[in-house]
Amino acid sequence: MNEQHSNATPFGPLPTWSDQLDPSVWTLADDPESEPDVAFGSKSPEGDSADGLTDHHALRLDDHFEWLSRRLPNLLGLAASADFDHGEIHRFESLPMANGDDPWGKIDSRLDTHEFDREVIAWLGELAGLPRGDQWGYVTSGGSEGNFRGLLLARQRFPESTVFYSDRTHRSVRHALECLRMQGLPIKSHADGRINLDHLYGTLGARSEYAPIIVANIGTTVHGAIDDLPGILRTLRELEVDQWYVHADAALAGMVLPMVDSPQPWNFEAGVDSLSIAVHKLIGTPQPCGVVLARRSGIEPGKGSTLLGSRSALAPLWIWRSMKALGREGFQRRIAKCFETADYAIDQLNELGLRAWRHRNSLTVVFDRPCDEIARRWHLPVDEKVAHLMAMPHVTRSQIDRLLQDLLMEG
Ligand SMILES: Cc1ncc(COP(=O)(O)O)c(C=O)c1O
Repeated sequence: MNEQHSNATPFGPLPTWSDQLDPSVWTLADDPESEPDVAFGSKSPEGDSADGLTDHHALRLDDHFEWLSRRLPNLLGLAASADFDHGEIHRFESLPMANGDDPWGKIDSRLDTHEFDREVIAWLGELAGLPRGDQWGYVTSGGSEGNFRGLLLARQRFPESTVFYSDRTHRSVRHALECLRMQGLPIKSHADGRINLDHLYGTLGARSEYAPIIVANIGTTVHGAIDDLPGILRTLRELEVDQWYVHADAALAGMVLPMVDSPQPWNFEAGVDSLSIAVHKLIGTPQPCGVVLARRSGIEPGKGSTLLGSRSALAPLWIWRSMKALGREGFQRRIAKCFETADYAIDQLNELGLRAWRHRNSLTVVFDRPCDEIARRWHLPVDEKVAHLMAMPHVTRSQIDRLLQDLLMEG
């Protein structure tokens, strides 16, 4: 989408919406041409650590850690929290743990955290409106896997169906469709990122599709836009479709909407059939993680396994610890602070004469695209006309102020 800007800055390629989290965009080495060091380590005469790592290699790790830490204060486009300390969980890193492919299963030869996996699913399932006793799901490697598994559930129910998704949908959905060999049709979106229901109506109507599968965005990557779920269901009814499947991609908003006073319709109570949440974004974890959720009664016997084999056994612990440590009030306070930061950023940007806004209940502040140099310095994903910053829990007013100073200098 944004190729024309990709090499336009002296700092290297700009991140773009579509590849915002693609590691290839964030050039790691100063010299991208440098040869990777693939040689085995060899013991040096002195200075080895107990297990044989040479000082030279230890230094490489130190350097990289420092490089990452230096970037953090300027990462205003990062859709993940950095203010976490899962203290009691550190010790588990010394154990060779893995969760198996069914949180309800037990493989005696393994060290697992299935009981926490199940409690996380019960907790988030309840927040997402899944009745107790009818909950299915597991802790995933992140939002993408949840989308993948949700679409696989959809295909298991309706193997021949086409998947309709807005053109603002995260690329993991298109990727999943390709892997699953499902047919997909993009639907136009409005300028604010929400799906265009007229186009959905026209497209569905022209095809008289049996049991369409719809992906609803509960917070798009770029605008934080929440698709009108009641409107999608109304469209299906108006077209007299009598069977359908709705998968909701609630990557970030899935942890926000259950905690706010007046959430947009987003969950099982509002009519979705499966749901993916990238839990790591709001709570902050050392590695990405998420959940996929569905009604147990909707899954045919034998078709409810996880996508991957061995899964992270740490992820359920991080999520579980956050749930217990923060409680509902803690999450509410955390999110209220994010909204305050977002509104502060919007006010300040407006005062500078820039257009800036956010959707209701969204942590994504969308504003007029700054020059490439500023976008690069603050790691702001950019579209043709706009950029966004993420008002995540660790983001402070002073960071926003520093960005504003740069924008002021830009003039
Ligand atoms: C809307 C949306 N869906 C899915 C994803 C993928 O989540 P993850 O990176 O955890 O796989 C993202 C990531 O930014 C996203 O913004």
